[in-house]
Amino acid sequence: MSQAIDLFHYYDPIIACASNLNFMRGLPDDSMKLIVTSPPYNIGKSYERRASLNNYMEAQREVISECVRLLDPFGSICWQVGNHVTKEGEIIPLDIVLYPLFKSHNLRLRNRIIWHFEHGLHCSKRFSGRYETILWFTKGEEYIFNLDPVRVPSKYPNKKHFKGPKVGQLSGNPLGKNPGDVWVIPNVKWNHIEKTLHPCQFPVGLVEPLVLAMTNPGDNVFDPYMGAGSTIIAAMKRDRVGYGCDIEEEYVQITKKRIKDLHSGNLKTRPMAKPAYDTILPYVGHG
Ligand SMILES: C[S@@+](CC[C@H](N)C(=O)[O-])C[C@H]1O[C@@H](n2cnc3c(N)ncnc32)[C@H](O)[C@@H]1O
Repeated sequence: MSQAIDLFHYYDPIIACASNLNFMRGLPDDSMKLIVTSPPYNIGKSYERRASLNNYMEAQREVISECVRLLDPFGSICWQVGNHVTKEGEIIPLDIVLYPLFKSHNLRLRNRIIWHFEHGLHCSKRFSGRYETILWFTKGEEYIFNLDPVRVPSKYPNKKHFKGPKVGQLSGNPLGKNPGDVWVIPNVKWNHIEKTLHPCQFPVGLVEPLVLAMTNPGDNVFDPYMGAGSTIIAAMKRDRVGYGCDIEEEYVQITKKRIKDLHSGNLKTRPMAKPAYDTILPYVGHG
């Protein structure tokens, strides 16, 4: 019988089938360097029950408050959300309504990252939604931010200073430029290589830049709404310790399978730096 060989060392993640409040209550203060998650949007997905906006906010208030307790003083929280859509078809941007909950803990907003993608529902009574956001907050004034590991190729790498003492020298950073706060990354639809049975995964490549920029190797990264474990995979791939929980046993099993596949070298993930569109194809691959 052939046996999978673990070619790489990965930190063992700590995951559980549990309600996040129960899971978090067992963890010490200040223990997480990064908390990154995508909570339910209260839109009636299979894993949630539609609640009034007030009840939804109350539940978020409790979870966010526990997350702040777990957050390291130099740590970050990244809350990835889209819109809640009312039965009447009005959209409520969740980042706008959740922002005051984070501010009530005196967290500092560092970026509101726009995650743009091309695929999704085609709306008939409004423009189709093609972005979601990530609110990145830090606990304090001082925080970890490693820019070099997440730099992207400069548009004009050979551009030179044209005057002053550095005239003739390259003007850009040879490691590339700051990726900015608009990220174009395909969402996980049925034909995405990371797709599992979970109805709304975010891509591993959306989490990896956050892990690289906001933590150092060996740090703890936690997802209180783990789903199919995309955060856990991003943390493991980048030598961090993943923590996560989900109330649905089915999703915890999917996460365990992905972890096993990562160990055996069989997990497919879309490379973080891969351009969203193939520029060789007509209409740059999204015509
Ligand atoms: C938007 S999904 C997260 C998907 C995840 N980012 C991924 O890439 O797979 C939200 C998840 O939260 C889980 N969930 C909802 N309420 C929860 C709770 N109170 N405690 C833990 N997990 C919960 C749901 O089962 C669902 O899998």
